[in-house]
Amino acid sequence: MKQKAILAFSGGLDTSVVVKYLQEKYNMDVVTVTVDVGQEDDYKKISAKAKKLGVKKHYNIDARKEFVSDYIFPAIKANALYQKKYCLATALARPLIARKVLQIAKKEKVTSLAHGCSGKGNDQVRFDLTFHAGSNLPIIAPIRDLNLDRTEELKFAKKHGIEIENVAKKFSVDQNLWGRAIEGGVLENPNNEPPDDAFIWVKTKNLPNKPVYLTIKFEKGIPVAVNGKSMNPIKLIDYVNKKAGSCGVGIIDHIEDRVVGIKSREVYETPAAACLIEAHSDLEKMVHTKHETKFKSLVDDEWSWLVYSGLWEDPLKNDLDMFIEQTQKRVSGTVKLKLFKGSLRVVGRESKYSLYSHKIATYGKGSKFDQKLAKGFVELWGMQSTEANKLQKKK
Ligand code: ARG
Repeated sequence: MKQKAILAFSGGLDTSVVVKYLQEKYNMDVVTVTVDVGQEDDYKKISAKAKKLGVKKHYNIDARKEFVSDYIFPAIKANALYQKKYCLATALARPLIARKVLQIAKKEKVTSLAHGCSGKGNDQVRFDLTFHAGSNLPIIAPIRDLNLDRTEELKFAKKHGIEIENVAKKFSVDQNLWGRAIEGGVLENPNNEPPDDAFIWVKTKNLPNKPVYLTIKFEKGIPVAVNGKSMNPIKLIDYVNKKAGSCGVGIIDHIEDRVVGIKSREVYETPAAACLIEAHSDLEKMVHTKHETKFKSLVDDEWSWLVYSGLWEDPLKNDLDMFIEQTQKRVSGTVKLKLFKGSLRVVGRESKYSLYSHKIATYGKGSKFDQKLAKGFVELWGMQSTEANKLQKKK
C-alpha cells in the first residue's frame, strides 16, 4: 500500500513545493491541513490550491479561539518578549498547528508527519518536538532533508506550475492574530532600512496628528475590554491591532538568536502585542510587591525562551505556567495608553489591588511616611558596600 503523509499546509511557496516533493520523490499520498490562527488567508483558495496539487484530502481548521485563550493569553500573562523584543507570534502558533495536525493524523491513519521547514529556522524545532511529544511516526521535512534553497524552490515551483504571490517573491512572511514576521530579500542585510512596502499592519506615512487613547481593562491578567467596551478575545486583539497600527505603533526590527545558532535580522509588525504587553506589565508593577516583580521577570524571560526554543511541551514550561497563573490573581484593573505618531506610552493606571499609596509616596503635606526611619535603614542597607569601599581605599 502507498505510504501517506500529513502536511501542515499554508499554501505558500515552501509547503506547496513540499506537496509535490512528497508525491514525486517520496512516492506518497498527501493529506494537507491548514490551521487558521488568524492569518486572514483565503481558505477557499488554499483548499483549491491543495486540490490542484493533487492532495488526497484537505482539512481547514479554525483554531483562532484556542490560539487566543491557550497561547496568546498565557503569553500576555508572561509579558512574553524573546530577547526583550519579539512577541513570539510564530513561536506560539507552531505547537498549536502541530497538535491539530496530530489529531487529524490519527483519523487519517497516516504513516508519516511532514512539514515545510528548512534546517535553518526555529519552526523545525517547534514542529519536530511537538510531533515527538504526541506521536512516534517518522517526520519528513523535504526542504531540510534535501537541503533545498529558495532559488531551487522557486525554480521547482515554476516547473510545476505552482503560483507564487507577489509579496512572497520579495519577502518571506508569516502572520497570525498576534503578529506578522517579515524576513528575507533586502532585509537580509541588517543595515538596510526596511522598505515601506514590507509593512501592511503598521502605517508608516501620513500618521494622524491627534493622539489615540486606549484604556485596556484586565481581569486576572487577561484583557477584557477597551475604552469601556467589552469585546470577545479575538475581536479585542484585532481592534487594538488596527488602532495601534494606524498610529504607526508596533514595528520591531532586531537581531535575533535562533535556536540553531544563526543570528538573524528580524522585522515584525506587532501592534496589539506591543500595547497589551506594555499595559499588562505596567499593571503588574502596580499590584505586585517588588519581590514578586523581580522574580517574575526571571520567570517571564525563561518562559519566553522555552517557547521560542520549541519547548512548549517541556514540563518546566508547565511548572512556570502554574507560577505565572498564581501571580495573576491580583492583575485586575485598567491601563491607559497614549498612541501618537509611532510612539506608545502608558499615561495612567488604576486597580483595586494597587499597592501604590498616595499617603506614603507624596512629597506634599500630610505624608504618612516617617522620613527619620530612613536614615538607619540606609545605613544598614549599604553596610557591606560601605565597608568594602573603605577597605579598597586602605589598599
Ligand atoms: N523569527 C521568528 C520565529 O522564529 C519568526 C519566523 C517567521 N518566519 C517564518 N518563515 N516562519 O519565531
